Amino acid sequence: MQDLIVDLKERSYPIIIKKGLIDNINIEIKKIYKGKKIFILTDKNVGFHYGDKVKSCLSNSGYDVKLMALEPGEETKSFDTLPSIYNEFLDFKLTRSDLIITLGGGVIGDLGGFAASTFLRGVAFVQIPTSLLAQVDSSVGGKVAVDLERGKNLVGSFYHPKLVLIDSNVLYTLSDRFFLDGMAEVIKYGCIKDKEFFYFLKSLKSKKEVMNSIDKIIHRCCFIKKCVVQNDEKDTGERMLLNFGHTLGHAIETYYKFKKFSHGEAVGIGMYNITKLSEEKGFTEKGVADDIKEILIQYSLPYQVDIKDNSEILETIALDKKNIDDVLKVVLLKNMGEAFLENTNVEFFK
Ligand code: GLY
Repeated sequence: MQDLIVDLKERSYPIIIKKGLIDNINIEIKKIYKGKKIFILTDKNVGFHYGDKVKSCLSNSGYDVKLMALEPGEETKSFDTLPSIYNEFLDFKLTRSDLIITLGGGVIGDLGGFAASTFLRGVAFVQIPTSLLAQVDSSVGGKVAVDLERGKNLVGSFYHPKLVLIDSNVLYTLSDRFFLDGMAEVIKYGCIKDKEFFYFLKSLKSKKEVMNSIDKIIHRCCFIKKCVVQNDEKDTGERMLLNFGHTLGHAIETYYKFKKFSHGEAVGIGMYNITKLSEEKGFTEKGVADDIKEILIQYSLPYQVDIKDNSEILETIALDKKNIDDVLKVVLLKNMGEAFLENTNVEFFK
């Protein structure tokens, strides 16, 4: 699989997608890092499967390595977790010329990336995403953040890694639910930018068939994402297209206090329902919503919720950070693979 380069001038970096990468991580790290100390941040689940392997691979090739394994789950991505990480950095005498590796899903990537961006005003870091969601989305593009009690991702920055290493073999230890969670974001790329890719995903009949093409699938998603990020790094235009299904999805996640639906599941519901609305309003070609519904069913993802009174959902949408001066930018599809931004307001969802 050909390496991708996120081309951002002096902040450019490669994305390497290769099965078995995690077994010889030292080879790729050696190419970009000439220092001695490496701090690995992971969670206890990922650490259980891959922590020792990555740590000893790096130690055996001469690095001085420390590993910190946090509790798994979104609660860990809290602003309040940061001091414990900074303290570990200090105990390890980490300097600005050393390296941090984030080994995990979106929580570890976002949190570790944010810690890397702020400690000593910035330490270089490498992303090794281990969930499908992180491999196709959050590890690429430099968005790093932590949650506050009053909302997710409220404190963050744009801070790019030096390298993203993606080994799809690690997906075999991911639960089916979280594999499918990632598939919702994969489907999103087809919806917004690549009709052929969407119908290719629709042609796959089982998880086995998906896994047979998984590197190609991840590569396509990362290619689309890196092109979008290159055009709009700071998320003021085209990058917002990556939020297709997210406004409604986020409101549904919030309504259920992040307990009932995973992020991908909520995004799936959001993609179908916004497209249904937008078909009704004449923005989208007829039949696109049904295609989305069919693919969600095929991947065992939900496409609807049974909420009797949607006033709370509308209130959350009204508070969405994409709602500026009463103008809400929503991502709609003109046709499959052709997303655009529409300036509207909360009335759109009524
Ligand atoms: N996950 C959306 C973005 O990176 O912009």
